[in-house]
Amino acid sequence: MHEIRRYVANIESVNVSARRAWSVPRLRAGGTLRRERRRTRDSVDMGVVGMIVVADALNIISRSGGAFATRWAHVVVGIMWIGLLYYFNFVQVPAFAEMEAAARNNAVDKLASRALWWFRWAAAATVATGIMILLFQENGDKAQLFSSDYMKSVEGMSIFTGILLALTMFFNVWLVIWPNQKKVIANARNVQAGGEADPAAAAAGRKAALASRQNTIYSFAMLMFMVGTAHFFSSGSGFVQSPSGGDRAAYWGIAVVIWLVFELNALGVIGGTTANVTNWMYENHKNALITGGLLVVVYYAVFYLVLKA
Ligand code: HEM
Repeated sequence: MHEIRRYVANIESVNVSARRAWSVPRLRAGGTLRRERRRTRDSVDMGVVGMIVVADALNIISRSGGAFATRWAHVVVGIMWIGLLYYFNFVQVPAFAEMEAAARNNAVDKLASRALWWFRWAAAATVATGIMILLFQENGDKAQLFSSDYMKSVEGMSIFTGILLALTMFFNVWLVIWPNQKKVIANARNVQAGGEADPAAAAAGRKAALASRQNTIYSFAMLMFMVGTAHFFSSGSGFVQSPSGGDRAAYWGIAVVIWLVFELNALGVIGGTTANVTNWMYENHKNALITGGLLVVVYYAVFYLVLKA
């Protein structure tokens, strides 16, 4: 108690002397100091104004500049997320299957845990920047995110299909892969420290692996819609600019059923989590690549058959 009071008194005395040190020259020097401070403030103001003028001249401070900057950031963090997803699926999982238990536990502890940090935060940043694009880009005088006309257009149907797949992937990361991987990491650390292996760790690893392979399968179709929105799925490429209500309902009915069947399968609701015919696509990365490629063909066929002009 005594010490705390002395500490507070010290701070107060420092503050008082600092105030005095500031006020004395101010009183003595009077106008000179005021002029000095005004000059500093003016040059800071000019610097800020200069930066704004330059940024404005470069078109960055504008609605389209914001849309461009967020699109760029979106692709950077999207690469980080999907790059790590492909690393896990095509490199790490097959390599871990060939490694000895001690080496694998060490790699899970030191390497996979770090990769998973970047992976899950890149996923969050991808969703955030994607939503920002929809806020910067406009349809008429409304942000795309709040424009029902945009959602009904062929571009809107393309991007919202991509977003449906990407959001599912995001929830798979945060609600399935990461909670289960935490158990795998905890087990690896415990065993390394000489503890007993957790009998539930293998099942947790399997659940995470199924969701991760499903994300790989979704990723190819998801990217087709992300990239296709600005570069292909439009009236200029032979699609109906404003599809009818019936065509929209038909498209979404089929697209949502395909999406749901895959997700329920990955979660083990259909067919469980053991090795069986419905889980064939998750058993190795080649099967996941084949299924992902087929899903691109199926989604493109549905989009084309229902929405071509
Ligand atoms: C829920 C998550 C996501 C949202 C809300 C979202 C949103 C968007 C939006 C609004 C666009 C612009 C569409 C347009 O051209 O008007 C876009 C484009 C794009 N997105 Fe996403 N996205 C998401 C996930 C992802 C993921 C996971 C990736 C993976 C790399 C990705 C990669 C891209 C790419 C490459 C483009 C195209 C950029 C271009 O053509 O200039 N997005 N996204």
